[in-house]
Amino acid sequence: MERDLVKIFDTTLRDGEQSPGATMNIEEKILIARQLEKLNVDVIEAGFAASSEGDFESVRRVAALVSHPIVLSLARTKEDDIRKAIKAVEKAKHPGVHIFIATSDIHLKHKLMMSRQEALDAAVWAVAYAKKYLDYIEFSAEDASRTDFQYLVQIFGEAIKAGAVTLNAPDTVGYAVPQQYGALFKRLRETVPGGDTVSWSAHCHNDLGLAVANSLAAIENGARQVECTINGIGERAGNTSMEEVVMAIKTRGDVFANVQTNVAAEQIFPSSQLLAQVTGLGVPQNKPIVGANAFAHEAGIHQDGVLKHKLTYEIMLPRDVGIDSNRLVLGKHSGRHAFIDRLQHLGIDYTGVDMNTAFERFKALADKKKNVYDEDLIAIVTEESVKGTDKYELLYLNVTSSSMAIPHATVKMRVDGQEFLDNASGDGMVDACYKVIYKITGIEPKLERYSVKSITGGTDAQGEVTCLISDNGMLVNGQGSHTDIIMASALALVNALNKLAQRERYGHQAGLHREGL
Ligand code: KIV
Ligand code: ZN
Repeated sequence: MERDLVKIFDTTLRDGEQSPGATMNIEEKILIARQLEKLNVDVIEAGFAASSEGDFESVRRVAALVSHPIVLSLARTKEDDIRKAIKAVEKAKHPGVHIFIATSDIHLKHKLMMSRQEALDAAVWAVAYAKKYLDYIEFSAEDASRTDFQYLVQIFGEAIKAGAVTLNAPDTVGYAVPQQYGALFKRLRETVPGGDTVSWSAHCHNDLGLAVANSLAAIENGARQVECTINGIGERAGNTSMEEVVMAIKTRGDVFANVQTNVAAEQIFPSSQLLAQVTGLGVPQNKPIVGANAFAHEAGIHQDGVLKHKLTYEIMLPRDVGIDSNRLVLGKHSGRHAFIDRLQHLGIDYTGVDMNTAFERFKALADKKKNVYDEDLIAIVTEESVKGTDKYELLYLNVTSSSMAIPHATVKMRVDGQEFLDNASGDGMVDACYKVIYKITGIEPKLERYSVKSITGGTDAQGEVTCLISDNGMLVNGQGSHTDIIMASALALVNALNKLAQRERYGHQAGLHREGL
């Protein structure tokens, strides 16, 4: 029997980026978009073009880059939003616009201060307006799961007449439960005039931990698109996790007997790792499919069973999702050929990376630590591929400390091409080093979060530092990895400051996401 396609609509670059601290700069978004194409998702929501110049530019770059997926920009029902969205996707092979307006009484009354009729008129106007320029229009009724059913039927019916080809009924606040969310799709498909001529989409948030279950219930009731993110990142508790929904459909092909996705499952783990590396949002150890423990068997009985036959305790194989059990370790005797060969084997995209610098970094690392693991290679190549347009560069760092002396740091940096050297003392080595960086850059952001983890095992492992800073209402994260954690800390802060500078350059309207959504 021919299975229906459930389209995977990836919103990592839009709803996912709305996770606190998941801000990505343009180069990082490009890196993720390339990976999404390899993953073979059907639709990429590349951003919200009207929210800032930076968002506009990143949607534009992603649209020009990818060839297979439909590329969308989100837009409110405002002329300026729609114009910017259309302009941003104009170079896409398959362009589209995703228009939304809130429809629940709670949102209409308290957020939009609009009547139902006004929201209906705005939606119809916006869809019809966008349709004059583009064929592919998705319409979303934000907070659909808490919207009066008859009104939802009316607004969806009118959106179809105005030209929408995909209708999305989001569970914006993660309030729905599977029976109810599934039933909503069944009723909508049966009731909305023209409902059989469009594609129905599920968009779930994970506030009650039900986003994946709700999305699967929607599929069982006729939804043929799922909106999701890599690692399930997104507003508050996150969005539907792409890898979980895809692997549930694939692994339980007996239950989801009439559907399939186009996703290249072996790209799931590399995508998860790349996103974690780029955003600094680590994957929880017990996260299904992609967490470090997802395929680890601890209990003796389980280990015994798996050794006798994998199927005793494993419902999927690690290699199905791209986890390479053949962990080849490189070291200081590995040459350039082995280095590049391993990157290719891992499917790491090094387009645009200066391979001389990357190889030098690999050699320098191999000199410091005996074994260089795949995770180390991913960190090097990701960092190298997103640098280039940076305002700040760390050139030199010297920190002295002892149990008797106050920690003191000297830092040399390049700022817009000019070199600066300064020093400061602090409460600890990281504090001293951050104080100098603040002095040199003239920015003193609030350090909201700081964490260190080791990329691999062993005392010679690279430390990966993630910091989250806020300045002027903007929240950005930074990552740095190095065998010396003070150096990794400094690199993380410089990375965050570069993102801040990029956002300021593009005049990001802080908080617009939160006001508008
Ligand atoms: O959660 C939501 O309702 C959204 C819409 C903009 C689709 O993200
Ligand atoms: Zn959402």
